[in-house]
Amino acid sequence: MINYVGNCASLIDWNAVILEIENQTPRYIGPRQGWDDPKVAHIADLWKKHGYKPAFEGGTAEWSIYSPGDHFDIAVVDKFVEFAGMKGWSCAWISKIRPGYCAPWHVDLQTDVRAIPDRIHCHIDTPDPGHLLIVDEQQLINQAQGETYRWSDPELWHAASNVGKKPAYLFNIY
Ligand SMILES: [Fe+2]
Repeated sequence: MINYVGNCASLIDWNAVILEIENQTPRYIGPRQGWDDPKVAHIADLWKKHGYKPAFEGGTAEWSIYSPGDHFDIAVVDKFVEFAGMKGWSCAWISKIRPGYCAPWHVDLQTDVRAIPDRIHCHIDTPDPGHLLIVDEQQLINQAQGETYRWSDPELWHAASNVGKKPAYLFNIY
């Protein structure tokens, strides 16, 4: 389950952040793991069963990851942490899905996810028809810039797709 936190669009200039990262090389392009990695067997089995394939195998599963400090100002994270009332944070990133691509159902593979179970995401761009995020059983579309949600569990299953006309960006933190 996810719960609404609020809107931070008046506190953080997300347009400036997007401008800053949009032409940069991402930290990595996912998915990174091969099908044979036992850590992702539960995800790989699901993808194979339903015919999803990573972009590097000619499929449509692909996302890019940008990091604070390397790709955008870490002060953005500090502002967000204050806005969301978080006690601290251990990991933050911006994800991008290009039109025509998706992030099929998965659980994020973070190692210390239980240390700070306060996972939050924020829709950082203006809405575009065709952008979809599903967390657990909640489907989010047409989210205004700055809309923010807290997850009941950092290891919730989630998925996203972009059949719109511009990249779909999300800020993620825990
Ligand atoms: Fe994810």
